[in-house]
Amino acid sequence: MKIAVVGATGMVGRNFLKVLSERNFPIDELYLFASKRSAGQELEFNGKNFRVEELDEHSFDRGIDIALFSAGGGISLKYAPIAAASGCVVVDNSSAWRMKEGVPLVVPEVNPEDVKWHKGIIANPNCSTIQAVVALWPPHRAYGIKRIVYSTYQAVAGAGMGGVRDLEEGLKGGAPKKFPHPIAGNCLPQIDVFLEDGYTKEEEKMINETRKIMHAPELRVTATCVRVPVFFGHSESINAEFEKPFELDELRALLQNSPGIVVRDDPSAGVYPMAIDAAGTNDVYVGRVRRDNSVENGVNLWVVSDSVRKGAAYNAVQIAELLLRR
Ligand code: A2P
Repeated sequence: MKIAVVGATGMVGRNFLKVLSERNFPIDELYLFASKRSAGQELEFNGKNFRVEELDEHSFDRGIDIALFSAGGGISLKYAPIAAASGCVVVDNSSAWRMKEGVPLVVPEVNPEDVKWHKGIIANPNCSTIQAVVALWPPHRAYGIKRIVYSTYQAVAGAGMGGVRDLEEGLKGGAPKKFPHPIAGNCLPQIDVFLEDGYTKEEEKMINETRKIMHAPELRVTATCVRVPVFFGHSESINAEFEKPFELDELRALLQNSPGIVVRDDPSAGVYPMAIDAAGTNDVYVGRVRRDNSVENGVNLWVVSDSVRKGAAYNAVQIAELLLRR
């Protein structure tokens, strides 16, 4: 297999390499692309050094099979079609293609069958959405979800290298460069830009992407997304209302037996999912499973995962593995 990584020097790009190596992905040739700034830099993969090249229109003229993109929406908009036209399948981590018709948006635990109808580009969903739908898919199939309320507590790594730098420097008293306000000692109820209706783009992504991935265009979903001073690992409070009645123990067992989920739910022993435990791992952790007594069939969940791993690099490599199997 000839594999390319676009945005190889970035937060997600570096994790593409880590996960490809950990998964023993069959690679005969590996090409690394980034901006002009990084051209010539070397990155290590499986004990060997690979030179980073500047991305251009001809980067894909060498029979590349799969390209993993994470260099921002603008780069994906321009270069994913060029790559696809050369016969390569793009797995794109940006938001550029996610809601486009003809582009599957895939979380392998939820809708693996959607990779079948790609036309050269497959979109990797938003990090907060991925961990949420992994946790919600098993109860949705069992009890039918009517309505979802998302409240997120998102790590700075979700904003790339610049986000991590802002928290590191902010802890030493430095001014923010990536975020609109200081993140150290603070919570920012703004992720991405504001839209006309008062929601942020991140919130809109969670709403629309949840519907697309779960094939539930009418599903009632709302979201509040907050950046918190945590380096790695997004935490989410998820409130869901079901069509059918359910038992808490049955729901816990259902979650525990579902792929990609680890249940950590023993409040009396102080056991619940935490960002510091999820960091660097590929799983989605679920805990604080309890009834929402304000409605008939409601539940509250606390869902934690590493946004750079399951929220980005690991999910993308899982999609590439689905392509391999085909
Ligand atoms: P570079 O390191 O050369 O700037 P992050 O989200 O962690 O900040 O990473 C963004 C990634 O996207 C980096 O690898 C960055 O490369 C890459 N990138 C940014 N601009 C371009 C560009 N114009 N062409 C190719 N890659 C780019």
